[in-house]
Amino acid sequence: MKPGSSSVLIPFVITLLLSFLWATSAHTHEDFLQCLTLHAGNSTSSISQVIYTPANSSYSSILEFSIQNPRFSTPATPKPLVIITPLHVSQIQSAINCSQKHGLQIRVRSGGHDYEGLSYVSDVPFLIIDMINLRSISVDAENGTAWVESGAIIGEVYYGIAEKSIKFGFPEGLCPTVGIGGHFSGGGYGTLMRKYGLAADNIIDAQMIVVKGRILDRKSMGEDLFWAIRGGGGSSFGIIVAWKIKLVHVPSTVTVFTVNRNLEQNATKLVYWWQHVADKVHEDLFIRVVLTSANSSQEGRRTIQASFNSLYLGGIDNLLSLMQESFPELGLVREDCTEMSWIESVLYFGGFPSGESLNVLLNRTPLIRPIFKAKSDYVMEPISEVGLEGIWERFYEKEAETALLIFTPYGEKMSEISESAIPFPHRAGNIYKIQYLVYWEEEGIAATERHISWIRRLYSYMAAHVSKSPRAAYMNYRDLDIGKNNKKGKTSYRRASIWGTKYFKSNFNRLVHVKTMIDPTNFFRNEQSIPALTSW
Ligand SMILES: Cc1cc2nc3c(=O)[nH]c(=O)nc-3n(C[C@H](O)[C@H](O)[C@H](O)COP(=O)(O)OP(=O)(O)OC[C@H]3O[C@@H](n4cnc5c(N)ncnc54)[C@H](O)[C@@H]3O)c2cc1C
Ligand SMILES: *[C@@H]1O[C@H](CO)[C@@H](O)[C@H](O)[C@H]1NC(C)=O
Ligand SMILES: *[C@@H]1O[C@H](CO)[C@@H](O)[C@H](O)[C@H]1NC(C)=O
Ligand SMILES: *[C@@H]1O[C@H](CO)[C@@H](O)[C@H](O)[C@H]1NC(C)=O
Ligand SMILES: *[C@@H]1O[C@H](CO)[C@@H](O)[C@H](O)[C@H]1NC(C)=O
Ligand SMILES: *[C@@H]1O[C@H](CO)[C@@H](O)[C@H](O)[C@H]1NC(C)=O
Ligand SMILES: *[C@@H]1O[C@H](CO)[C@@H](O)[C@H](O)[C@H]1NC(C)=O
Repeated sequence: MKPGSSSVLIPFVITLLLSFLWATSAHTHEDFLQCLTLHAGNSTSSISQVIYTPANSSYSSILEFSIQNPRFSTPATPKPLVIITPLHVSQIQSAINCSQKHGLQIRVRSGGHDYEGLSYVSDVPFLIIDMINLRSISVDAENGTAWVESGAIIGEVYYGIAEKSIKFGFPEGLCPTVGIGGHFSGGGYGTLMRKYGLAADNIIDAQMIVVKGRILDRKSMGEDLFWAIRGGGGSSFGIIVAWKIKLVHVPSTVTVFTVNRNLEQNATKLVYWWQHVADKVHEDLFIRVVLTSANSSQEGRRTIQASFNSLYLGGIDNLLSLMQESFPELGLVREDCTEMSWIESVLYFGGFPSGESLNVLLNRTPLIRPIFKAKSDYVMEPISEVGLEGIWERFYEKEAETALLIFTPYGEKMSEISESAIPFPHRAGNIYKIQYLVYWEEEGIAATERHISWIRRLYSYMAAHVSKSPRAAYMNYRDLDIGKNNKKGKTSYRRASIWGTKYFKSNFNRLVHVKTMIDPTNFFRNEQSIPALTSW
């Protein structure tokens, strides 16, 4: 063991490698930039205002601004040759045309929340098209629809709707900084999902740019491609510029509660029982469970805390009688509950203190931005108390001090929509989804390995308790552990279907078909992009 010498050598080798890659791609990159300015015609001056290369002083801050997982923000993380922050659709067209011509790959970024950093990291020479400047929102409150540009974050969508009408909301996610480019194209769920389904279930039109710079809307793209981008991930098919969404009705008063129970307060039994009611209660009621380890009231001992975190679309009185009927074991009392407006509940679930101004929804910088690794599972049969206790044991390990499990209930609208309506296939038969999250602060490979190893061990333990063949996963919780495409060369259908069927079940086949039609040369690709059949 010579830890000293390897820690000196590794950065050296990486630097060598990087400068070599840089030299070989510098040529392509110059040609690409020249192509862009030529293509842009008389709008040359405006395109130069949105092009950043490492020579520009703000390159790093633009790159870092939307990196939501610092695991992919180290000196060793591959960086883009160019970042473009388009102001006009024509600049995206030019960027696509010139990248195709000069063999550069494109990564598209909206909010930068991709769990594996795929919107801003690549092993091959690449550029980032960062949609941050294309984020206008236009709400038609009369017709209950809105056009939203894909660079907007979900907080801006909530805000834009609330500004126009308190009668409408939209079934999107909980964390306001999430971008709608990735979120809507991968599904997108939140507290309204049991009543209205996913964000992707409520998209009625889209504007996107595909290979050769063609601009399409729902009519010109056809129903196959329009189907694919609502849950199949946008990045395999092109660049989505805007979505047209159907707004949903929300009542003037909603009620929220968060009730914590630890093991001494029967947490195990309560979680066990929750599994029997969570997907069956009224569609107006959403109760998720957040599990963490915590200090016990007994000095020096650890316990598990189950946090029952809920939105009810109505007032306290109705909620209390519903809970008495369906989940009396929780012992919910009036004092646990708070009535508020729908938009205030958005702030509540976003983690903001009560009384916070709605303007915080416009802030693209999250409250915290920790290093993390996540995974997901679907549960179709309740897990036994003994099975749950196996989870608790793993939570007492050192790596799990700041780990988190989130159980999100399905049922109602989620079960009514057919498995093939959009590519997102996790419908009837699922009681709830599990998200596993582990966070850490220490930098460096050793800390990363310890924490990732912990979450993989937990995932492996869970195999017996969750969906099988396929063991399903949620695409928006991207996880490269479940399979990825070849680094170089072509990826076979067989290889891609390893991860593809987990995210999409049998919808994977139709996605491959659409991909083959729209992008036969597989220009838009990444570690988990849908393969084109012609590239076998
Ligand atoms: C803190 C946090 C909270 C979250 N909460 C929720 C939640 O409540 N509910 C939920 O469902 N999910 C949630 N997610 C997951 C989130 O939905 C996904 O990570 C989503 O893909 C993020 O979209 P983005 O635009 O921010 O990410 P990005 O990293 O910008 O993009 C994600 C993927 O989409 C592609 N993409 C982005 N924009 C476009 C575009 N315009 N056209 C084509 N492709 C595009 C990217 O290339 C990449 O492959 C959360 C994630 C985080 C980090
Ligand atoms: C070029 O300029 C003309 C006149 O200002 C404008 O109408 C046209 O859209 C511009 N073309 C491009 C590609 O920007
Ligand atoms: C980046 O630098 C180039 C070369 O100096 C310049 O043409 C371009 O306008 C700069 N980009 C921005 C966004 O300032
Ligand atoms: C992109 O290329 C196509 C031809 O391949 C051309 O018709 C189109 O005008 C180009 N668009 C831009 C903005 O460069
Ligand atoms: C509502 O939709 C109709 C039909 O599409 C349209 O004519 C009308 O202008 C829309 N209303 C508003 C306020 O835009
Ligand atoms: C735990 O459950 C038992 C019955 O199973 C009950 O008697 C007891 O009061 C509960 N404890 C708490 C703290 O709720
Ligand atoms: C839990 O207890 C440990 C040691 O007893 C202490 O260091 C830690 O701060 C406690 N954590 C919390 C959240 O109270």
